[in-house]
Amino acid sequence: MGVVVSVDNCYIIELPKIQDPRGNLTFIENSLHIPFDIKRVYYLYDVPGGSDRGSHAHRNLHQFIVAVSGSFDVLLDDGQRKQHFHLNRSHNGVYVSPMMWRYLDNFSSGAVCLVLASEKYIESDYIRDYDEFIAATREIAKL
Ligand code: TYD
Repeated sequence: MGVVVSVDNCYIIELPKIQDPRGNLTFIENSLHIPFDIKRVYYLYDVPGGSDRGSHAHRNLHQFIVAVSGSFDVLLDDGQRKQHFHLNRSHNGVYVSPMMWRYLDNFSSGAVCLVLASEKYIESDYIRDYDEFIAATREIAKL
């Protein structure tokens, strides 16, 4: 049996929410609320209606994706099975393990997609071709 790369390893994580009449507050502490150390933070915003993002996988990167504002869909694909997440809360997000093909779409107006990442930006960590991704998942399954 090879290394198991499964979409079952990706799941929604609830974050602390401090409710206050002045406005709510959510926080994320390094590796306490999410299963990796954060080395990079980026966010998508001003996404035009009908646009999609992603369509790639990462060899080693762990990510945590939150709709801090608005909503969007995240489709994860491990090469065999797919899992769909609709993110529309500021106080939860989806953990994405390495070697998941991801596709983000259905962005609402004003949506902000916050991504916490386990590594700095490394282009060689990306797999941007779906056939190459499938071939890589088969190689991993042989390990
Ligand atoms: P990409 O990860 O392909 O975007 P998405 O998955 O959201 O569709 O990145 C888009 C561009 O931005 C690409 O040219 C690489 C660059 N980029 C950085 O320079 N640093 C980063 O941390 C990220 C995430 C992207």
